[in-house]
This record gives sequence, structure tokens and C-alpha cells, in this order.
Amino acid sequence: MKEKSKHQVDMPANRETVAKNPLTVCVTGGAGFIGSAVIRQLINETNHRVVNFDKLTYAACLKSVGSASKSDRYVFVQGDVAESRDVELMYEAHKPDIIMHLAAESHVDRSIDGPGLFLHTNVHGTYTMLQGALKHYRGLSAVDRERFVFLHVSTDEIYGSLGETGLFTEDSQVCPSSPYSASKASADHLVRAWTHTYGLPTVTTNCSNNYGPCQFPEKLIPLMVLRGLAGEPLPVYGSGLQVRDWLHVEDHARALWLVATTGAIGRDYLIGGSSERTNLQVVHGICDALDERFPQRAPHASLIEHVKDRPGHDHRYAIDASRIESELGWRATHTFEEGLSDTIDWYLKNESWWRPLQERYEGQRLGADSKAAK
Ligand code: NAD
Ligand code: DAU
Repeated sequence: MKEKSKHQVDMPANRETVAKNPLTVCVTGGAGFIGSAVIRQLINETNHRVVNFDKLTYAACLKSVGSASKSDRYVFVQGDVAESRDVELMYEAHKPDIIMHLAAESHVDRSIDGPGLFLHTNVHGTYTMLQGALKHYRGLSAVDRERFVFLHVSTDEIYGSLGETGLFTEDSQVCPSSPYSASKASADHLVRAWTHTYGLPTVTTNCSNNYGPCQFPEKLIPLMVLRGLAGEPLPVYGSGLQVRDWLHVEDHARALWLVATTGAIGRDYLIGGSSERTNLQVVHGICDALDERFPQRAPHASLIEHVKDRPGHDHRYAIDASRIESELGWRATHTFEEGLSDTIDWYLKNESWWRPLQERYEGQRLGADSKAAK
């Protein structure tokens, strides 16, 4: 028997009993890092249909969907989650059974430079997706309603920073520090409100830092790999003693599907990799791996430079994933060291993937000046 949390809402749905195959799954942000991993798994490992609904911002790369894009069960729809017309057209045309809402502005440093876009996409965009979902849900038959779910993909950053000890749980206080995390926390509140007030069946996940193939090269791991490869300075913010809990993107994608199909309506699930590392440990790990692969350029660690800290930088994130583990049977399967080594090799082998993205972002420092917000 699942323990009921204060956030859970009594809903008649048991989606497992009304399963249909194939389902139509709409993945928003499916051209991004995590969304594309979700789509690859859904197409390659299930019979379900996938609608990839993405605006194609600077962070998007349709190549990340890979061979899954050739499936007759896959369709791409270019649209903006914050535009009600785009959203309504998607719901009307594709009649999804499941929404996996990942589309967002996702980079903390960019949110420091330009918070407005984060509010628009992450807050107004989630509101628009919820309104579209509600209209669609109300038009469904009773059986189809029992199957419908809106999965909202959020972040552990909504809880702010931990001290040296302790773990985030689903009952941790929401206390975001950056414009990005504040926008995600706002979206989480909207999702909960749409369940409590309107009865829309939703589930929310909050996960830790993802890593793996197809991550846009502004994020710590790909940035350090590609700069190290080019012999460029490796900018560590402040002391580099900040801690993140690293989760392989494929473990995350599996967790999201499990929550979407078996999670309790109105419930939140934290997802983490139980792999806490300081940023310096991560960067040294990358340097060691590059030394092994390119000994003539060793030591890559000599490229490390401590630079001005990120404004409002959260010190430590770490996840207690026991709810999703005990209730839904999920486990992270990648160790960080193996996953990091495979990820580095993926970047070394896939220059044709990352080189064009460098035209959009050449590795320049973002988010350093909190006075410059637009
Ligand atoms: P990403 O930046 O790699 O991809 C975001 C995708 O969303 C892009 O394809 C982009 O084109 C699309 N998008 C942006 N604005 C849109 C709009 N208005 N309409 C439609 N599409 C739009 O992001 P990611 O790292 O894959 O993160 C996906 C989700 O997971 C986000 O909601 C993020 O907050 C959350 N998350 C990410 C991490 C992480 O470590 N990357 C951790 C926790 C939670
Ligand atoms: O915790 C989940 C979050 O993880 C997600 O919600 C975000 O979408 C995702 O971007 C990520 O946020 P972070 O801010 O933790 O990720 P980022 O890769 O930007 O930075 C990781 C850590 O590395 C952070 O402490 C800042 C530091 N850093 C980052 C960059 C880009 C550096 O020291 N130097 C850098 O150049």
C-alpha cells in the first residue's frame, strides 16, 4: 500500500488497469538533452507513438532523436508551449494519452543574464500546456480520462541549497535561489494547483543534474570535455567545492516513463543518481580521462582556472530517491565513473553533433554579472 503524502489527491484513476497499446505520448522539449533520450527509449523499447513538440530554440538539436526519428510512430511538431494556438492545435491533432512536459529554458547561468525568457517559457509555457491539457481532458471519454496523465519534469533546484549533510526529500521546503529555479518552482505550484482545483491528473518529478550523450555544451561536463580537448582554460566557478548529485540521462528517462505510467496521481517523485561529487572532482575526473586518451597533452588539469563565482550559487544538492525506489521499483543503473567515461567517449566520437552547436555558443562565460539582467 502506497503511503499517502500531504500533496497527494484522491483520484479514481488507476492507469495500469486501463492501459492501451499503443499510447500516444507527447514529449515537449523532445529536441533537447533529456527529451531526446526519452524519445529514443520510447521508440526503441516500446510500441507507443511519440509526438515531439518543440520550438527549436538555441538548445535544440533534432539529430539527438537519432534513428528513432525514422519510425512511423514518431512525429515532430514545431511549436511553442507558451503559444496557446500551437498548444491547442497539438492537442486537437494528436489527442495524446500522456504528456511528458520537459520543454523549458534550462540553463541557470542564462537565467541570471535574462530571467524574462525563463518566466515566459517555464511559467507561462507550463500554464499554457496545463490549460490545453484541461480542455483536452474534459473532452475525453470516461475510459480515456482514466488513462490520461500530465507528467511535469522539474528539478531539485527548487529546494535551494543543502548544507554539508542531509538530503532533499519530497517534503523539503521549496526555497529556490536562481531565476531558473524560481521559474521551475512556480511551474510546479501551477501543476499542483491544476490537480487540486480542476482535477487534472498530474505527476511531478524533481531530479538532480543529468549527464550523458547529447547535452548542450554550455553545461559543466560537456563544456569541460570540449574545452579540455581544445586546450582551453577550464573555468571552475569559485572554490569548485560545490556538490551536485549526478544522474545518467538514460536512468532519468527510464524513471520518467515509470512515473508517467505507474506514479500516483498528484504525487511528487525525487530522482537522483546517489553520485555526489564536488565540481572539482568532476573536472579532475574529466582531465584524468583526457590524459589517458591524449597522454601527449597531459596534464589537462593544468588548464583549470578558478573564476568569479556564479551569483547566488547553490552549494550542495543531494537526493533521497527512496520514494521512487520503494514505490515504483526504480534504480539508477549507471555508476558515475563508467557513465562519465562513456560520455567523454561519446563526445570524442560525435564531433558532427556538437560542432554545429558551437556556432550558437562558443563557450563564453555566461551569468557572471548579476547587475546585467535583462
Ligand atoms: P535542454 O535545454 O537541453 O532542452 C530544452 C528543450 O526545450 C529544447 O529542445 C528547446 O528547443 C525546447 N524548448 C524551449 N523553449 C520551448 C518552448 N517555448 N516551446 C517548446 N519547446 C521549447 O533541457 P534539458 O536539460 O533536456 O531539460 C529538460 C527538462 O528537464 C527541463 O524542464 C529542465 O528544467 C528539467 N531538468 C533538467 C535537468 C538537467 O540536468 N539537464 C535536471 C533537472 C530537471
Ligand atoms: O540540479 C538540476 C539542474 O542541473 C537542472 O535543473 C538544470 O537544468 C541543469 O542545468 C543543472 O543545473 P546546474 O547549474 O547545476 O548545472 P551546470 O552544468 O550549469 O553547473 C554544474 C555546476 O558546475 C554548478 O555548481 C556550476 C558549476 N560550473 C558550471 C559551468 C558551466 C562551473 O564551475 N563552471 C562552468 O563553466
